Amino acid sequence: MLTQITNPWMPHPPKKIIDKARAILETYNNGTADLTTAPTNAHVYNNNYTNRVYHRHGVETMSRKQHVFSVGEEFDKWAADNIHPYAYEAGLSISMPKDLPGQGPHCDPRRRYALNYIIDTGGDNVRTVFYKEKGFPIERLHDAGPEGRGYWADYPDLEVIDDVVFGAGIWVLLNAKVLHSVENMVGYRSFLTISLPDIHQLPWNNRLPS
Ligand SMILES: [Fe+2]
Repeated sequence: MLTQITNPWMPHPPKKIIDKARAILETYNNGTADLTTAPTNAHVYNNNYTNRVYHRHGVETMSRKQHVFSVGEEFDKWAADNIHPYAYEAGLSISMPKDLPGQGPHCDPRRRYALNYIIDTGGDNVRTVFYKEKGFPIERLHDAGPEGRGYWADYPDLEVIDDVVFGAGIWVLLNAKVLHSVENMVGYRSFLTISLPDIHQLPWNNRLPS
């Protein structure tokens, strides 16, 4: 079962797109960003899913959420031309709010796979942890929370199956239908992100032998 894989052979995003992302991030890091600005993915926050409460060793905690901002159509086009023909929702993702250390275990509601290119890790020991919910399959292809919310599960019901510290400046592919959390964040964690409907149409699967 794939949980995650780092992909050094994938092309780096164009410098112009990284620069654009860094300019947005700078406004968060220097405190000039308007934190009330609605992200491009604000429509996924209309069902209270992001206000879920987790319990860890009996302690209640809230979760960060991903604010995804468009960095222009150029990135979508680059992703389609260089990564996957049906890549979608390419953008810059920033986890907020900064004062919470984690994003609790969840499956991404709108995508099968995620491809992330980390710009700021959010700390030196930020761990992406994958889980199996006790009594359930590892991959939760068809599960959704109540009223169409994204699927999530609380820590006491989970067993860790993978735990990794990702570095910046390289593409990592994540199985978005395996429960995963992000732990130990201290600053803004940000990455360029692309959603993928499958991993069968990545360019190296379609090259003709020479
Ligand atoms: Fe996620």
